[in-house]
Order: sequence, then C-alpha cells, then structure tokens
Amino acid sequence: MKKLVRVAILVCVSMLLFSLVSGCGANKTPQDANADQEGKLKIGIVQIVEHPSLNTIRESFVNELAEKGYQDGDNIIIDYQNAQGDQTNLKTICQKFVNNQYDLIVAIATPSAQAAVGETKDIPVLFSACTDPLEAGLVRNMEKPGGNVTGTSDAVSAEKIMELAQRITPNIKTIGALYNSSETNSISVINNLKEYAKNNGLTVVEATVTNSSEVQQAATSLTSKVDTIFSPIDNTIASAMPVVSQVANKAKIPVYVGADSMVKDGGLATYGINYPVLGQETAHMAVEILKGKNPGDMAVKTMTDIDIYINTATAQAIGITIPDDILKEAAQTFGN
Ligand code: TRP
Repeated sequence: MKKLVRVAILVCVSMLLFSLVSGCGANKTPQDANADQEGKLKIGIVQIVEHPSLNTIRESFVNELAEKGYQDGDNIIIDYQNAQGDQTNLKTICQKFVNNQYDLIVAIATPSAQAAVGETKDIPVLFSACTDPLEAGLVRNMEKPGGNVTGTSDAVSAEKIMELAQRITPNIKTIGALYNSSETNSISVINNLKEYAKNNGLTVVEATVTNSSEVQQAATSLTSKVDTIFSPIDNTIASAMPVVSQVANKAKIPVYVGADSMVKDGGLATYGINYPVLGQETAHMAVEILKGKNPGDMAVKTMTDIDIYINTATAQAIGITIPDDILKEAAQTFGN
C-alpha cells in the first residue's frame, strides 16, 4: 500500500514538472508573459562573441537606455546572452527570446542579427553595428525596411581606409585581404576594396578563414606576397587581432583595419566610426520601438562621423613614422 502511495506521488510530481516545463514553451499566452515580468518590458540582447568593440556597443546601449528612463531591473528587464562565437548558440539564444515572448530583441553584429531575424517575424528585432544590412539579408530597403526589423550600421569605406594607408605607407602595390568569407559584413567591404584596387591599378591577394584558429596561418601566407594587409570589420579576424599583429610586425608589414578596437589590438590604423555613439543611436531607436513604433517604418541608421585611429606602438614595431598631420588629425592613438 505504502508503495502504491509513493508511486502515486511520483506520478503527480512528474506531471507537475512536465506541465511546468511545457508552460515555459512557445504556447505561452501574452497574459502569462506579463505575469512573470510583473509588467516590465523584456529586452533580449544577443551578442555573437566577447569582444571589446561589441562590449562597448552593448554597454553604451544599456547606459543610454537608462538615461532615457529605461533602467534594467527597474521598469525593464535586460537578458544579455553571448554566443561565444558559436552559430548554434546564437540560434538557441534567439529561440529562447522568442519562446519567452520578449518585447524586443537587440542583436549585436551581423551573425546575431541573422539568427534573430531567422527566428521571428513578429517580435521587433533591432540590429546594431551591422556593416551591410542589405547584403546580409536583414532588410530589403535601408530607408523603409518593412517587417519587424531595423537597426544601425557601422559601414566604413575601404577606399577611405586605403587612402589613409597610402598617406602613411606610400607606394602600396599589393594588398592582402584577410577576412572570414562567410561573414557578409566583410564581403561587402572587400568588394569595395577590390573596386578601389582596380581603379588605382593595385592588386588584391585574398586569404580567407572560416574560424579564428585559421587566422595565424592565413596571415602568415600573406606576408611574403603583399605590401600591406587589410582586414574589414570582421568578427573572426577582430577576435584574433593580437595574432595578426604579431605575424605582421615580425614581417614589418602594416595592417590596416576596419574598426578602432582592431587598431587598439595591434592594427596600424583605420578610418572608423565611433562605437559608443553607435550604441547610443541604437538605444534611441529602441526607445521609439518600446513606445510602439513599428521597426519596419524606421530607416536603418548609418554613422556619418568617421575618425582616424592610429597605433603608435605598431608603427614603431614595423619601423615607420606616422606623419605629423595624420597624428594631429587622429581622434585617438593607442600604444606608447
Ligand atoms: N560590423 C560587424 C558586423 O556587421 C560587427 C562589429 C562591430 C565588429 N564592431 C566590430 C566586428 C569590431 C569586429 C570588430 O558583424
């Protein structure tokens, strides 16, 4: 008899557990969602990888949101998840945000945004720092994206960066393009580089990677063939910048890059955007969406202010002198 009671209890507990687990799934009603949020709006932030530049965007976004009256833990709940560079994690994170019926998904960098857009056509998706949202298939129109998606872009011009390169290290004839061929954000900048090279009678040699463990080999393969290495705003190369810079410094080759953080991590120079400002702009768009604006009606925001960033320690390591006028013009110098 005692045994029967125990079995009955076990069955009841299992049923209760099962109903709890399935209650957290996709079939939750909006009332349920509001009940666990105590009326707070829920924002899911998904970031592809742990990287200073992406962290800067996120921190600046969260701070500006608080400035505008949306304080985490107060009237909103921010659930921040990092995919640690793993595509499968990205999908799982975004699915969780959608199943929990969050009010807004903020996706930092292109791979995160692509994952978020793949999971929902209803919940607003606000992407941040996506170099080429059109090429990445995030929006069909920059002015009027339509649907549930909009965001900010950190597009830079390879041409402008190469013009700066020619001022710092003149007589570049051959450019080594180092990037991850599966990152659409990189491909569009590389296409711009190729166009620049064609118009100026220069040669581009490509070395592509599929993950950060291949970067050292790819960078090394370029050093004997090129006058300079160019890396766009590539999530994979950015996370391996110290390795790139080590290889390039040894070969005394200047590395021009797409973002300030890549200069900080050893690249020689860039003409890049201001990421804290981009984070703030993303927050302003988030506020509009939280107030009920339709993302599809909001134009993608591109940054117009671009600045020079220089790494003087790298310059010293490869034995070049940065012209004074460029140093004066630079927004920031890293190194010594
Ligand atoms: N622009 C990148 C993308 O579209 C993301 C990004 C922003 C980034 N800042 C960066 C990547 C700095 C590397 C380094 O995915």
